Amino acid sequence: MTGSKQRDSQGKPLKPSAAASATGPPGEPSGFVPLIAEKTIKEKVEELGRRISEDYRGMHLHLVSLLKGAWVFTADLARQLQLETSIDFMEVSSYAAATRSSGRIEIVQDLQASVRGLHVLVVEDICDTGLTLNRVCGELRRREPESLRVVSLLNKPDARVEPVGLDYVGFEIPDKFVVGYGLDYRQRYRNLPSISAITPHETDLPDGKGT
Ligand code: IMP
Ligand code: MG
Repeated sequence: MTGSKQRDSQGKPLKPSAAASATGPPGEPSGFVPLIAEKTIKEKVEELGRRISEDYRGMHLHLVSLLKGAWVFTADLARQLQLETSIDFMEVSSYAAATRSSGRIEIVQDLQASVRGLHVLVVEDICDTGLTLNRVCGELRRREPESLRVVSLLNKPDARVEPVGLDYVGFEIPDKFVVGYGLDYRQRYRNLPSISAITPHETDLPDGKGT
C-alpha cells in the first residue's frame, strides 16, 4: 500500500480503536515468565503427531477441536497427522460468571455433524479443573462414537477438581495462569507463538479463565 495512512476497503483510516481498549482489562497482567518456547512446542506437537498417527494407522480419525483455546494447537497437530482425518469444532464456555469453574459448562457452538460410529479425538489446549473435558466427553459419548480419546497440549494436575482420562498430553505444567499458542487472558495473547505464565491483574483473581 502506498501513502502514509493505512486504510480499510471502505477507505477508513486504520487507527487504534476505542472498542479494542474498552474490551481490555481494568489493569494489565504482570510478570510474563516464558514457560515453553516455540521450538519446544513444535517438537512436542510433532512427537504427538507421530504417536497418534501410529496408534490410528489405517483408520479415519475425526478431530473435535474445542474452541477457542485449541485453535492453534489443532491447526499444527492436524498437519502432523499421517492419517485420513476430518475435523469439527465445538465452543464451550466454562467461566461465564468469571469465577474459577462454576461447574456450569455451556456448549456455545455445537458440532456441525454427528460423531456416531467415528473414531473421535478431542483436541484441547489445557486441562485445568477437568470439568470442561468431563462434560464434553460425557456429551460426546452419548452420541455413540466408535471410540473416544483426548489429547491436551497442557495439563495442570494440581488444579484438578474432577479426574479426567487424558490419552495424550504435551506438557505437565504447574498451577499457573498461562497465555499464548491459543490460550488467552481476557481474549488477548492467543497469537503469541510461545507459552508464558502471567500474573492476572488482581481485580481478575481468581478469574481470568477463557475457553
Ligand atoms: P477446565 O478448568 O479444565 O474446565 O478448563 C477450562 C478451560 O479454561 C480450558 O479449556 C482453557 O481454555 C481455560 N483455561 C484453563 N487454564 C487456563 C490458563 O492457565 N490460561 C488460559 N486459559 C485457561
Ligand atoms: Mg480450552
